[in-house]
Amino acid sequence: MSSQPKPQILFTRQEVKATVDRLAAEIREDYQGKHPLLIGVLKGSFVFMADLIRLLDFPLEVEFITLSSYGRGRSTRGELRMVKGLHTEVKGRHILVVEDIVDTGHTISFLLDYLGKKKPASLRLCSLTDKPSRRQIPVAIDYLGFTVPDKFIVGYGIDWDERFRYLPDICFVEVED
Ligand code: PRP
Repeated sequence: MSSQPKPQILFTRQEVKATVDRLAAEIREDYQGKHPLLIGVLKGSFVFMADLIRLLDFPLEVEFITLSSYGRGRSTRGELRMVKGLHTEVKGRHILVVEDIVDTGHTISFLLDYLGKKKPASLRLCSLTDKPSRRQIPVAIDYLGFTVPDKFIVGYGIDWDERFRYLPDICFVEVED
C-alpha cells in the first residue's frame, strides 16, 4: 500500500452533527408538506445525504446522479457528462440538490442548469461545504454547512484520490498540488 498523507481535523464529528441538525431544521421548515425530491450528487454526497434525510421526518423522495468530467485538472473541470441520470420526473417538483462541496462551481452550475430546463416547481441547493476561494462560476448556495479553506478536504464522504471518504470528521490533507 502506498503511503498516505495524514488527515488533520478541520471540523469534528460533533461539529458536523450540529451543522447537519441545523441544515435539517432549515429544510424541514421550508419543505414540510411539499413532498420534495432530494437529488444527491455521487459519490461525495452519500454520507451527508444519509444523515440528512434521517432528520427529515416528512414525506420526501431521494435520487442520486453521477456526473463525470473528462480532461479534468485541479483548476479545470473538463467536459461534464451525466453518467447516471434520474429515474424520477422533475417537472413540477420541488427539487433540492444535495452536494458535499462546491469548488470551482462547474459541476453544480452544469447540474442546476440541466435541472432548471426540466421546469421544476422550485430548485435549490444544499451543500455541506463551500470553498469560495476557488470559485470560477458564481453559485448561490441556499443551505450551507461549512465554508472551508483552499485545502484538500476529505472525510464524511469526501475523497482525495478516492481515499478517506470513511472518516467521520471533516479533515484536510497536505499534498503536493
Ligand atoms: C466533487 C464534489 C462536487 C465537485 C465540485 O466531485 O462532489 O461534485 O467535485 O467541484 P467543482 O465545483 O470544481 O465542479 P468529484 O468529481 O470529485 O467526484 P466524487 O463526488 O465522486 O468524489
